[in-house]
Amino acid sequence: SKTIISLAEITSFQSKEEEYSPYNWYKRMLHQDPVIYNEASDSWHVFRYDYVKTVLSDFKHFSSVRTRSIVNVGYQSEGDSGHENKSERMPDQLDIHNVDPPEHRKRRALLSSAFTPRSLKLWEPRIQAAAEQLIEQFAEQPTVDIVAAYTSIFPIIVMSDLLGVPSKDRLLFKAWVDKLFMPTTSDNFHEINEMKKQAGNEYYQYLYPIVVAKRSNLEEDIISDLIRVEVDGAHFTDDEIVRTTMFILGAGIETTSILLANSFYALLYDQPELYEELRNDLGLVPNAVEEILRYRFNISKMDRTVKEDNDVLGVKLKKGDTIVAWMSAANMDESMFEDPFSLNIHRSNSNKQLAFGYGPHFCLGAPLARMEAVLVLTAFLKTFSKIEPAEPFILEENLVPAAAGQSLVRLPIKLYK
Ligand code: HEM
Repeated sequence: SKTIISLAEITSFQSKEEEYSPYNWYKRMLHQDPVIYNEASDSWHVFRYDYVKTVLSDFKHFSSVRTRSIVNVGYQSEGDSGHENKSERMPDQLDIHNVDPPEHRKRRALLSSAFTPRSLKLWEPRIQAAAEQLIEQFAEQPTVDIVAAYTSIFPIIVMSDLLGVPSKDRLLFKAWVDKLFMPTTSDNFHEINEMKKQAGNEYYQYLYPIVVAKRSNLEEDIISDLIRVEVDGAHFTDDEIVRTTMFILGAGIETTSILLANSFYALLYDQPELYEELRNDLGLVPNAVEEILRYRFNISKMDRTVKEDNDVLGVKLKKGDTIVAWMSAANMDESMFEDPFSLNIHRSNSNKQLAFGYGPHFCLGAPLARMEAVLVLTAFLKTFSKIEPAEPFILEENLVPAAAGQSLVRLPIKLYK
């Protein structure tokens, strides 16, 4: 299992609120040395746009094969190998996150069969219907906690529907996902890890028979796509498909929930006049989503391992060193984005933001995440003439640590039909 690197010494945020909007810190880091070594965590850090792109995409020098990691959400085997757990990890031949090209290309080709533009077009009406149905459940209320009622459940509804599991089991699904990808700290590691193991087992027991049954009854869904796919004579087995769905859920649920919650936060607090502007021109919504991805960070950083001694970043990096690329800081680099600390939905290059990464590992689910956000906001704008904060909102009390940083646990909104 991998050593987890703590970044707390590097950022030294004084509050959750500061971590949720770390613009001053980014500003400082962007004006410091382009490459910074942090002794406490024994790791290198880059913030500027061009260096972040290089670290993410130059796989000859910066490898995705990790011995240490900044991510602490997955289940970790604690060495009790006598007690092998089926759901415990991705078999190596499926893992696309911790592998470099050329092997990466093969593995990614298999998985991307489930995320083609064709399937996305097919799914659009289903996702739109789900977005509208969920709104109907609270549309007549004067106020709603948008996190509880919408942003924390919509991505799981979409994903369980796209996977092709019965809709009556969505809540079961959500409970497993919440446990499986809960972040850990060194204090609670063992306790939470046990819980993850159990949730993983239950999920596996639940989904395996569904995959087996689908083999003889293929439909238009991700599991069926994963059954159909063939690359160079290779197919997924049932076991591999169950594990692959777990990986997709881990990559795509919390990230999308955070994007949706941040979008409502931006409309309420970052730029309250935006709601009316978007309502008057729904065609602005896609670029607004793109700009929110740039401005309100999500997965703020990604790590790589130095593959061989090199100085491509102007300092001597040694084979095996860990280097962290801060995409969210790169999104604030003024050499790339004019007036970067303002949220501007008319920016012409918002889509150069790096929230989905860059290069061979660029997020496979980016088109889906973008589509979900656009459909949710559009459905909302069509239903409500105005939204406002429902109460004096204390940000500090409504944030919790997530894999990606701080995420909103509650966001009450006053609704006007
Ligand atoms: C990879 C972010 C939603 C599936 C990535 C990476 C980032 C990212 C930064 C690159 C990792 C690296 O360079 O090592 C996000 C954000 C999302 C989101 C911010 C939402 C706002 C999704 C969704 C799915 C998904 C909805 C699937 C349904 C994946 C997969 C990879 C990936 C499979 C691995 C690609 C590879 O290594 O080749 N994501 N993601 N993501 N994402 Fe996403």
